[in-house]
Amino acid sequence: MKLSKEKVMEPETPFTRLYEDRFGLAPDFPAPAEMNPALAAILARRSHRRFRPDPVAPDLLRTLLACAQSAPAKSDLQQYAIIAIRDAALRTQMNALLASQPWVVGAPVMLVFCGDFRRGQRVTALRGLAHANNNMDSFMNAAVDAALAMQSFILAAEAAGLGCCPLSVIRNRIEEVSAALGLPDGVFPVACLCVGWPAAAGFTTLRLPPALVVHEDRYDDGDLEAELTAYDTRRHKRFPITPDKQLHLEHYGQAETYHWSHNAARRLSRPERAGFRDFLLKHGFKLA
Ligand SMILES: Cc1cc2nc3c(=O)[nH]c(=O)nc-3n(C[C@H](O)[C@H](O)[C@H](O)COP(=O)(O)O)c2cc1C
Repeated sequence: MKLSKEKVMEPETPFTRLYEDRFGLAPDFPAPAEMNPALAAILARRSHRRFRPDPVAPDLLRTLLACAQSAPAKSDLQQYAIIAIRDAALRTQMNALLASQPWVVGAPVMLVFCGDFRRGQRVTALRGLAHANNNMDSFMNAAVDAALAMQSFILAAEAAGLGCCPLSVIRNRIEEVSAALGLPDGVFPVACLCVGWPAAAGFTTLRLPPALVVHEDRYDDGDLEAELTAYDTRRHKRFPITPDKQLHLEHYGQAETYHWSHNAARRLSRPERAGFRDFLLKHGFKLA
């Protein structure tokens, strides 16, 4: 949406503060007079990677999992599965597989959200029919179902005061993770979710401006370069990326100017998880 560039001058309200925290911009539309607390919580959401050691009560976890299952799902097929890791030895194994993210060790709860074709294949067979949808579209539907369930879980967990962080890095060791979790053919991990009571308040990460993400009627990225530069500058002022955090130093060396877009470009310039397709083809997905 090409939002009006006209700034609405008004005193700071809870909404304008939250919006400014999220985008580094003042809203260019009138702020709601009253801030709905559910919306405020969503605007302020952030990932948490440091947790207090306190456990999450099993009943609370089951309530949050019920919230996860309340997410919408394509054709109501519910093509996802959630593995809640409880066994201590398995947890130790998962911590080791995720050693590149040492903070996961401190998360009291670990859930793995998976896309699941297998259940639909079994349901079809149980009702005497042949499954005819082992294709790309179903693969995406399963991934989307799993992601929506994960986000429903996250919003519910945050409403209960918990913090979460999704981890796609789980797919760096996809064969070992799938074997450890006993994932059969037709089931693939989308992301792991670490959950616990936050040890720190965390911070709101600045998002791309709505002008780059929300389009009105037709896709139009004509302003990409100008908007990107402005976003980089805003974001760098608030969260500069320190030189030691620059990606792929071995390929690109250290840059003097290094903002969000440089980081994104470096990340996207090197193939990540190039073996994922082969994993899927080997594990029952045709991706036709
Ligand atoms: C699908 C997905 C995978 C992610 N994988 C990782 C990960 O492997 N490691 C990590 O530290 N954070 C991961 N994150 C968290 C993102 O880095 C985080 O959402 C992003 O930096 C924005 O920060 P915020 O969530 O605090 O707003 C992932 C998020 C999503 C949605």
